[in-house]
Amino acid sequence: MRHPLVMGNWKLNGSQQLTADLINGLRDALADVQGCKVVIAPPALYLTQAVAAVEGSEIGVGAQNIDVNLSGAFTGETSAEMLKDIGVRYVILGHSERRTYHHESDELVAKKFAIMKQQGLIPVLCIGETEAENEAGKTEEVCARQIDAVITAQGVDAFKDAVIAYEPVWAIGTGKSATPAQAQAVHKFIREHIAKQNSDVAQQVIIQYGGSVNDKNAAELFGQPDIDGALVGGASLKADAFSVIVKAA
Ligand code: G3P
Repeated sequence: MRHPLVMGNWKLNGSQQLTADLINGLRDALADVQGCKVVIAPPALYLTQAVAAVEGSEIGVGAQNIDVNLSGAFTGETSAEMLKDIGVRYVILGHSERRTYHHESDELVAKKFAIMKQQGLIPVLCIGETEAENEAGKTEEVCARQIDAVITAQGVDAFKDAVIAYEPVWAIGTGKSATPAQAQAVHKFIREHIAKQNSDVAQQVIIQYGGSVNDKNAAELFGQPDIDGALVGGASLKADAFSVIVKAA
């Protein structure tokens, strides 16, 4: 059965000092946590340091993006093969900031998802609607489209051992989280949408919520039956707040 997964997306934040301090703080605070998988996703430059610093703990390390190519003349990129080589297991794909600032399409994200599966890594597929789409009642349509891009390219089995993060764009970094009921309704829709193709895959896929999750609202969100943890931005940069969120899961 699926297990809760709380992941910290540090985005473009950090330093060698912060990486060392934050991981030390998390190792202490989370030493006795059981049943919830914890993953941190620092910027690519600090991944090697993070992998070494989590050694001997239950904390996993993820990256925030990959290129669609494994190697070659692609200046400035990082490949799935390289991440695997240094001990990274998870990669966040299709975050709304990448879709917006780097113009990543559903199809490109689906290609990255396929590469992750080929490499035996765990993709964390971010989906979610903008505020305008939400107000226009298009939340389900947008989420279905973003999921279907993967299903069309690789079939529903691609979601075995994969993670989906529902992150409504209007809730990211705004302090305005979706309510537990709002988030649960969308998570239920996502699971049912996948179940139309394969109910076992739908029951097994981890669906995280992301968007202004903090130490105060986490427990109520995690009390919902289809919310399997969180993808946390701002609050993942503080060991005490992030630990409270993990313990709530
Ligand atoms: O990927 C996590 C994210 O986009 C949510 O960020 O700062 O609202 O928790 P934040």
